Amino acid sequence: MATLTINGRSVTLEVADDMPLLWAIRDYIGLTGTKFGCGAGLCGACTVHVDGEATRSCVTPVASADGKEITTIEGLSSAGDHPVQLAWVAEDAPQCGYCQSGQIMQAAALLADNPDPSDEDIDRAMKGNLCRCGTYNQIRAAIKHAARAKMAGSDVQSDNQEVSA
Ligand code: FES
Ligand code: FES
Repeated sequence: MATLTINGRSVTLEVADDMPLLWAIRDYIGLTGTKFGCGAGLCGACTVHVDGEATRSCVTPVASADGKEITTIEGLSSAGDHPVQLAWVAEDAPQCGYCQSGQIMQAAALLADNPDPSDEDIDRAMKGNLCRCGTYNQIRAAIKHAARAKMAGSDVQSDNQEVSA
């Protein structure tokens, strides 16, 4: 059994302690924005925040998240207007989209820790998030876009215009 606070809602689950958190999120709670990729901690598709840290939910036993605050892509912003989400739209980052909720959650954690990341900081933080469509250049542009918007204290433009820094 585990009691999770997921996107601000407390949920108690009667499941095996070693069930991957990803299964609990998708199959028991019904939040399917978090994706299954490799199931082995190698691709980042399943990334959520656990107490603010980017975490691979496919290799995280649900019992280890007991009592912790979990945020999924659905909870990043109730209106879908988190600066990282807006920057993803502005830079047209996704292709097939499968990896992108994990990419966004990883990027949001990076920017929470480091509001002005260098190229090297971005590479280091994002290197475990794979994209079969090869959207890495757009992802880097979107992270910089979100960083500029956050530093400017304004929302990201959604019409592909740059935000003045
Ligand atoms: S599905 Fe979790 S890291 Fe790939
Ligand atoms: S957008 Fe297709 S896998 Fe990343």
